[in-house]
Amino acid sequence: MIGRLNHVAIAVRDIAKAAQLYRRTLGAEVSAAVPQPAHGVTTVFITLPNTKIELLEPLGADSPIAKFLERNPDGGIHHVCYEVDDILAARDRLKAEGARVLGDGNPKIGAHDKPVLFLHPKDFCGTLVELEQA
Ligand code: CO
Repeated sequence: MIGRLNHVAIAVRDIAKAAQLYRRTLGAEVSAAVPQPAHGVTTVFITLPNTKIELLEPLGADSPIAKFLERNPDGGIHHVCYEVDDILAARDRLKAEGARVLGDGNPKIGAHDKPVLFLHPKDFCGTLVELEQA
């Protein structure tokens, strides 16, 4: 059911510093920082030949990544994002398999303007999983 790895997301305290690290030290193609108030984060996308890295910095008072950064002060891998062809069919199959979909279970429009869902990390080997409709 899942398709390509769309991105790996890394939570950071200082997105300008992290973007510079990827641009200068690792020599990657790095986007401008984009505030995403609806998601409580600022994002930078790093384009690699086979996938992307999404840098996330908290934005606003109740950012969904604030607690993660309290537990991981140096930053860390926050989630992986897999592409699916049909997000509603994927959700229904996962729920039938007993997996927990976060939030109200309905897809939201994500950072790429495509429908996304998040799956409970306890059901997926301790890893927060994002599904994005390709
Ligand atoms: Co993501």
